[in-house]
Amino acid sequence: METMPVGGNPPVVAAMTDATTTNAAATDARPTLLASGDHRGAHDHSRVVAIDGPAAAGKTTVARALADRLGAMLFDTGTLYRAVTLAALRAGVPFADGPALAALADERHIDVTSPSAPDGRLYDVRLDGEDVTWPIRDPDVEAHVSEVAAHPAVRAALLPAQRRIADGSAVVMVGRDIGTVVVPDAGVKVFLEASLDERARRRHAELIERGTAAALADVLADLRARDAIDRGREVSPLTVAVDARVIRTDGKPVDQVVDEIERLVRAAWANPAQGAP
Ligand code: DC
Repeated sequence: METMPVGGNPPVVAAMTDATTTNAAATDARPTLLASGDHRGAHDHSRVVAIDGPAAAGKTTVARALADRLGAMLFDTGTLYRAVTLAALRAGVPFADGPALAALADERHIDVTSPSAPDGRLYDVRLDGEDVTWPIRDPDVEAHVSEVAAHPAVRAALLPAQRRIADGSAVVMVGRDIGTVVVPDAGVKVFLEASLDERARRRHAELIERGTAAALADVLADLRARDAIDRGREVSPLTVAVDARVIRTDGKPVDQVVDEIERLVRAAWANPAQGAP
């Protein structure tokens, strides 16, 4: 599969294919994206769409649909933190040991590419070549990823790969700190919000669909705990960028949210001088 390496020297490499491709065999669409003039100079972030928000606010689903409509790449940065958490679980690295976790992030090779199987995945994630797309969604990873992501050393280790993806590309980036820290000059910034109850219902439904047994009350408690860590951490806490558009997704169909963001993006891309809404 052709991928776009963004990791440079560090062994942790996040790589993406063009989001308009839907399977591994159709990866030659990326040069089309480049030829269409969407790849601009390095450090031009006018075509970066930053989508931040708490867990299960609908960010990734919305971002996938948006990226497809825009012919842009999709980069869900949570995959990096999840892959490091999975690697730590397997290697027995303590979740409290920031420097050891950062070293692990430096040692391991993470690839994010277009989806290779029609099993509901929005992308493939590989850890040292192994397909970990579903294992990084396991409850064990879910339970510890916020703790791992709270270490400044881990965040520092994963930052360069994220910035390289942003440079000069048309990309929809999903995370917690994209608009505030990773790409503060992104062309469009959106913060997706939803009530804790709604987010718990969505996450619970996702788990049931994948055949993972979980009680709604436990899912809600986990989300509340993750929110507290993500919002309360010292470095890059989950917070709304001053120039972000806040969109509440409670009760809104995905298409309606995507329409709203697409309008913002088309307006910003038509008139880049005006910057983020
Ligand atoms: O979006 P997600 O649930 O896959 O994210 C997993 C964890 O990674 C989440 O607890 C917060 C963290 N994360 C982060 O701190 N910064 C990002 N840019 C993306 C995710």
